Amino acid sequence: MIPFNKPYLSGKEIDYIKFAIDSGKISGDGSFTKRSQDFFTSKYGFQKCLLTTSCTDALEMAALLIDIKPGDEVIIPSFTFVSTANAFVLRGAKIIFADCLKELPNIDVDKIEELITPKTKAIIPVQYSGIACEMDKIIHIAQKYNLFIIEDAAHAIDSYYKDKALGSFGNFSTFSFHETKNIISGEGGMLVINDKRFTNRSEIIREKGTNRSSFYRGEVDKYNWVDIGSSFLPSEIIAAFLFAQLEEINDIQKKRLDIWQYYYELLKPIELKGLISLPFIPDYTTNNAHMFYLLCKDEHTRNSLLSYLKSKEIMAVFHYLPLHLSPFYNKKHDGRILNNSERFSNTIIRLPFFYELKDTEISYIAESIYRFFGLTF
Ligand SMILES: Cc1ncc(COP(=O)(O)O)c(C=O)c1O
Repeated sequence: MIPFNKPYLSGKEIDYIKFAIDSGKISGDGSFTKRSQDFFTSKYGFQKCLLTTSCTDALEMAALLIDIKPGDEVIIPSFTFVSTANAFVLRGAKIIFADCLKELPNIDVDKIEELITPKTKAIIPVQYSGIACEMDKIIHIAQKYNLFIIEDAAHAIDSYYKDKALGSFGNFSTFSFHETKNIISGEGGMLVINDKRFTNRSEIIREKGTNRSSFYRGEVDKYNWVDIGSSFLPSEIIAAFLFAQLEEINDIQKKRLDIWQYYYELLKPIELKGLISLPFIPDYTTNNAHMFYLLCKDEHTRNSLLSYLKSKEIMAVFHYLPLHLSPFYNKKHDGRILNNSERFSNTIIRLPFFYELKDTEISYIAESIYRFFGLTF
C-alpha cells in the first residue's frame, strides 16, 4: 500500500532529543524551544512566537486572549478542521459559518460583511492547503468593524501572500506541527502574537495563569497565579524534534514542491478533458506544497475513485465534513446553505503526499487515475 502520509525524519531528531536529555532540562521553554521560536521570528518576521502542544491549543489560547464570552460571534469557514471552531465554542461563542469560494476552499471574503453583527468579535480565516485567503480585504473589514483576525495557519508554514509570510497578518496566528504537516514534531503547534497588547498575557495563559516566564527572565522576584490559563507549553523533547526539522526546511520544501509539480503535470491532461479539477492558485499567493488534492465532478465519482485507488493499493483520503452540518453544530447553525463548502467536501480527494514519495509511485498513482477514467497514460 502507498500510504497517505509518512512522517519524514531529517536525521538529527534523535541527536537533539539526546542533547536535551543530557542537558538535564526536558520540561518546556529551554534552548530548543527558544531556538525554534527565534527561527520563526527571524525567518518570517513574526512578532512573537510561542510553541504550544498543538495548533488546537494555540487556537484555544487565542480565544482566551481575545476574551471570548458566551454570546460573542466568530466568523469561521465551514470547510475546516473542527478545532478552528471548537476553540471558540469552548468559551461560549456562537459560530457564524461562512462559505468558501467557488474555485478554492478558502473563505469567500466578499460574503463576510453580511455576516457581521454588533456581537461579532473575530474573523478566523483558514489558509487552506497553504494557499492564502485574500488578506487585504479581510484586514480592511476587520479594521472597519474593529474585529480581531486569527489566522488558522495550520497548513501554511513557509507560504506567502503578496511577499509577506502567512502567519503575519492576524492579531494572532496558529500553526500545526502534527505529523501530517510539512514540518512536524508528532503533535505540536505554535501561537504567533503580532499584536503587542497581548505579548505579556500570552505567556501567562500558556503557563497555567502564572507569571513564570517573567520570573525566569528575572523581571519579578517570585512567580504567582495572576490570571486564568492552562498547560499549553510543550516539552523540550518535542522542541528538539521540531528544531531538527526546521533546520532542514529549505530541503523539505524543495522536495515537496517537486512532488506537487510532478503530480500537477501528470494530471493536467485529465483536467483538460474536463474530468477533474486541480488546485487553483491565485496570483497573490505562493504554494507551500502542503497537500495535493483534486476535485471530482460529483460525490459518486469521488467515492468510486477512492475505492478504485484503494484496490490499487493507494491510500487516498477525503476530508472536512462541513462543520455547519456536523452532528454537534447543525441545530445551532442558522440554516444558511453553504453550497461551495458542501461541494468541496463531497468531491475532494487528497492524494498520498510525503517527502519520501518516489517519482515511480507518483506516476503509478497518476496512471491509476487515468485508468479509472478509461484513459491511456
Ligand atoms: C485547518 C486546521 N486547523 C487546526 C488544526 C489542528 O491542528 P493540531 O492537530 O495541531 O491541533 C488542523 C489539523 O489538521 C487543521 O487542519
